[in-house]
Amino acid sequence: MAFTPKVLAFSGSLRKGSYNHRLVEVAAGGARAAGAEVTVLRLSEFALPVFDEDLEAKGTPDSVKRLKDIFRAHQGLLISSPEYNSSVTAALKNAIDWVSRPEQGQPPLSCFTDKVAGLMAASPGALGGLRGLVHLRAILSNISVLVLPEQFALSKAHEAFGEGATLSDAKAKATVEGIGAKVASTISKLRA
Ligand SMILES: Cc1cc2nc3c(=O)[nH]c(=O)nc-3n(C[C@H](O)[C@H](O)[C@H](O)COP(=O)(O)O)c2cc1C
Repeated sequence: MAFTPKVLAFSGSLRKGSYNHRLVEVAAGGARAAGAEVTVLRLSEFALPVFDEDLEAKGTPDSVKRLKDIFRAHQGLLISSPEYNSSVTAALKNAIDWVSRPEQGQPPLSCFTDKVAGLMAASPGALGGLRGLVHLRAILSNISVLVLPEQFALSKAHEAFGEGATLSDAKAKATVEGIGAKVASTISKLRA
């Protein structure tokens, strides 16, 4: 049976009208066009508590278990990260921290090891969130994720989207779709 790469796409924003969510939807389209099955989720739907080892000791919250199961069911990640004060958002780091924790009987970092990730960012500012991506790349690389060298930071995000979630700039759209496609093709190559 033909292998179908599975890619999980989400942003580090909890905001309903998030530019980063819109951007990751574009990358998801690129991954789908390259033959991947893509799950797009919103971290806001999980209402994760702030990570606290005392809370964890009482038992992993159901919302975390649900998110970890979703991570394990995918070989690739597409993440669009807003830049807050030159770094990733607390919401994104909090999700990574929870998902990185092994429960009894689970190998360490089972939700991250050998996953292929494509990164992007969107910001109304001139740098597009580029500085936050430096941190996100380091965080993910240190937990055994294979982060693609290609990345994209969308500046002036408030002016970038036309009707629906489409990027008005054709070159930017092709670049972001290309990141989605590269995640899909890299998963397939690693599998082969
Ligand atoms: C606490 C905070 C810090 C921010 N710091 C930065 C920053 O360092 N660089 C930047 O480009 N934008 C910064 N912004 C603006 C965000 O890029 C902007 O709110 C963006 O729309 C967030 O992404 P979203 O639309 O996906 O929610 C900051 C916003 C907040 C709320």
